[in-house]
Amino acid sequence: MKNTVITFKEAKQKGEKLTMLTAYDYSTAKLIDEAGVNSILVGDSLGNVMLGYEDTISVTMEDMIHHGAAVARGAKNALVVIDMPFMSYQTGVYDAVVNAGRLMKEGRAGAVKLEGGKEVCPQIKAITEAGIPVVAHLGLTPQSINAFGGHKVQGKTEAAAKKILEDAKAVEEAGAFAVVLECVPAKLAELVTKSVSIPTIGIGAGNVCDGQVLVYQDMLGMFSDFTPKFVRRFANVGEVMTEAFKEYCKAVSEGTFPEKKHEYTLSDDVLEKLY
Ligand code: KIV
Repeated sequence: MKNTVITFKEAKQKGEKLTMLTAYDYSTAKLIDEAGVNSILVGDSLGNVMLGYEDTISVTMEDMIHHGAAVARGAKNALVVIDMPFMSYQTGVYDAVVNAGRLMKEGRAGAVKLEGGKEVCPQIKAITEAGIPVVAHLGLTPQSINAFGGHKVQGKTEAAAKKILEDAKAVEEAGAFAVVLECVPAKLAELVTKSVSIPTIGIGAGNVCDGQVLVYQDMLGMFSDFTPKFVRRFANVGEVMTEAFKEYCKAVSEGTFPEKKHEYTLSDDVLEKLY
């Protein structure tokens, strides 16, 4: 069944957990969709896991549209959420609406996600009023990595925890239909989850959120540059891939691949005429 913003709303009301995974290409999106995951996030984490940048700062609108459109072609039932990249909305309400519109028209997003609390509420309100569903993102927001001074757990002090709680209420009030909570203490995420009526989607935010999201390369063991504490490895696909690549090299160098069954035939008549 097609997942929409209504699915998210009803899941929270019924106490049913929501699932979200990232994807950045057609074939991965298809596999995730077929597995019945509620939502696919085309995260700007593609800067790290697909493009090899050390952070998400250099990711462009064109990157997000290019990968988003590929994912949208592969996702039949999952709700596709595309991240708004750094400086595509922070510069003002007009830019935010225009760029969110491009992610819908050119990237075929079902919703957009942007980072920040009260400071981006005018953008959330304007994008929502333009008919574009918005997911907010609080806690460790990677586009502010330079302001945080690194990948650090957020909301540990009274003031920081209060800000996250107030920001969650503010983004709901501005029109966001869900909020991602990244790298915050589990007890704080629980309090936020109980304090807002939109679903909270946790990543490094404990078990009491309304849903969970992971970067698919992390949960499949395909990305080894950095593995955060909150990741569970559900499979070792990276190891399987490396083994297969080695087997391929061996088979080609030993001449055991390709075999007869992989060949195309040419009739003897044609062949004779070539000599
Ligand atoms: O970019 C991303 O993949 C994200 C998730 C980590 C929530 O924002």
